[in-house]
Amino acid sequence: MKINIIVAIAANRAIGFENKLIYHISTDLKRFKKLTTGHTIIMGRRTFESLPGGALPNRRNIVLSRTQPSLSDCEIFPSLEHALEGCSHEEDVFIIGGATLYAETLPQAHRLYITQIDDMPAQADAFFPLIPADEWKKVHEERYAPSENIPGYAFIDYIKV
Ligand SMILES: NC(=O)c1ccc[n+]([C@@H]2O[C@H](COP(=O)([O-])OP(=O)(O)OC[C@H]3O[C@@H](n4cnc5c(N)ncnc54)[C@H](OP(=O)(O)O)[C@@H]3O)[C@@H](O)[C@H]2O)c1
Repeated sequence: MKINIIVAIAANRAIGFENKLIYHISTDLKRFKKLTTGHTIIMGRRTFESLPGGALPNRRNIVLSRTQPSLSDCEIFPSLEHALEGCSHEEDVFIIGGATLYAETLPQAHRLYITQIDDMPAQADAFFPLIPADEWKKVHEERYAPSENIPGYAFIDYIKV
């Protein structure tokens, strides 16, 4: 099984505020859809609750929660270990947030799909953990210049060394 993390991170490692995304960059959202469609996505209960339309279509939606026995249109597991046991070896799994789950899965992930946003948000309360530089190798970088209302950003992929 390949464990991928996909996340959009600001310059100060911020990823969210008040259980919402900070940035809505359409190219980024399209890339997220393209990479995850047809695969399994695993998320924390708070990230699931933040999805405006509920479960994401054409993907196996797995939600981790110790408090919720069921939620609509998704599978619930009480731990990451149980969730991964419930996935097949051939599955390409995408960890899609939030902060709690990223911190727990970073040590065992194989690839990171990072959208690095060249901006410091005024407010944030959820952050991505530090990426240990000696454990990850950059394998792809695609940079976009700032445009009206959108800061510059880059798609950067890392693989575990
Ligand atoms: N920038 C991005 O790319 C991105 C992507 C996704 C999310 N976000 C942001 O991240 C923020 C949410 O992050 P968060 O850390 O507050 O919440 P979260 O990780 O989405 O959810 C936390 C909850 O998930 C459950 N959980 C997490 N790990 C678990 C485990 N190992 N076993 C069982 N249950 C587990 C627990 O639910 P129970 O309390 O029910 O037990 C926990 O309270 C939001 O602001 C969101 O917008 C940003």
